[in-house]
Amino acid sequence: MENLVSNEVSILTDAPSAINSLLVNNATMKALVYHGPGKKAWEGKPKPLIQETTDAIVKILKTTICGTDLHIMKGDLPEVTAGRILGHEGVGIIEEVGSSVSNFKKGDHVIISCITSCGKCEYCKKGMYSHCEKGGWILGYMIDGTQAEYVRIPYADNSLYPIPEGSDEEALVMLSDILPTGFECGVLNGQVKPGDTIAIVGAGPVGMAALLTAQFYTPAEIIVIDQDDNRLEVAKTFGATHTINSSTNNAIEKIMALTNGKGVDTAIEAVGVPATFELCEAIIAAGGHIANIGVHGKSVTLHLETLWSRNISITTRLVDTVTTPMLLKTVQSKKIQPKKLITHRFKLDQMIEAYDTFGNAAKEKALKVILEK
Ligand SMILES: NC(=O)c1ccc[n+]([C@@H]2O[C@H](COP(=O)([O-])OP(=O)(O)OC[C@H]3O[C@@H](n4cnc5c(N)ncnc54)[C@H](O)[C@@H]3O)[C@@H](O)[C@H]2O)c1
Ligand SMILES: [Zn+2]
Ligand SMILES: [Zn+2]
Repeated sequence: MENLVSNEVSILTDAPSAINSLLVNNATMKALVYHGPGKKAWEGKPKPLIQETTDAIVKILKTTICGTDLHIMKGDLPEVTAGRILGHEGVGIIEEVGSSVSNFKKGDHVIISCITSCGKCEYCKKGMYSHCEKGGWILGYMIDGTQAEYVRIPYADNSLYPIPEGSDEEALVMLSDILPTGFECGVLNGQVKPGDTIAIVGAGPVGMAALLTAQFYTPAEIIVIDQDDNRLEVAKTFGATHTINSSTNNAIEKIMALTNGKGVDTAIEAVGVPATFELCEAIIAAGGHIANIGVHGKSVTLHLETLWSRNISITTRLVDTVTTPMLLKTVQSKKIQPKKLITHRFKLDQMIEAYDTFGNAAKEKALKVILEK
């Protein structure tokens, strides 16, 4: 991915708004604040307060940075307003709960889901938490997020998951977003089956999560495509049977050669740029499934002139995180070991450095970065 961080300008605290907020809330904390495309700062913000009886305030113990945060920094999600605290992943300890929260109490250790869900609306009842009428993906997007010392979690009963005692909390940060995302949007929507040949385009943390969880279904071949040789090497150690660097090879020709000219049964797009979605369109076998995961900021050409007769399906999905409890069991039993995705560790107040590292992943050999209290 192109260097997203080099042209950034750090700007100082937005003093007037901070002072306004201090009138109602004296306690402050530090947080990563978005100030428009390419601009961010680690700065003082009011500590969040309970606003609704269903809220919890969580003290962040560990958080991380997602490819989606890089998309926000790039300006791909212009609906994110300046002043927003980013971040939608993390584990923490409950500081305070609203009066109607019944599943959690002060002191509980929790996984924060990237998706906020009321558990009661029509979409929640269908298991489509991502489209919850009162929540969905709002954290670090429409409301302040987890790259901070404290975060307010609405609908805490349904949006937090208890951490079993004695767990490796670092590994569980991967359950906030990347594992359910790779699994639900990539593997489940892509209908991966035993004996299939699948391609995963994008070997970032999300593509790697698809790689780890695809193996629940024993596909015969897993081809991973990226432009970063380091990430491709890591993919091999995680179970990729073939890797292709698409910046130095013709990925379409290579994949067709590997599949006797047929293409792949499932193509999982885990980048979010037109070229990688179009690659999926070019390599899909008849009857195959293109499962898009990437957040796209630009329109993509749909080649119906070649695909109309190919019996394929194309799916899109915002992660619902409905599989989080199941995935937690697979992590606890070490069936999958997402902790291996962590390459760099920082203290929370080294957030800007962590963004630089994750934003220059190829140079820094970075995959998932952990920031801890
Ligand atoms: N649908 C959802 O609910 C959901 C949830 C989380 C993340 N996402 C999205 O998933 C995508 C992946 O997230 P991530 O955290 O792994 O991001 P990332 O930026 O770490 O990884 C993207 C990978 O794509 C590779 N890449 C870039 N351009 C490429 C190209 N032209 N050809 C091949 N490879 C290329 C990069 O080298 C990198 O390894 C992002 O778009 C993110 O926004 C979607
Ligand atoms: Zn994310
Ligand atoms: Zn709901």
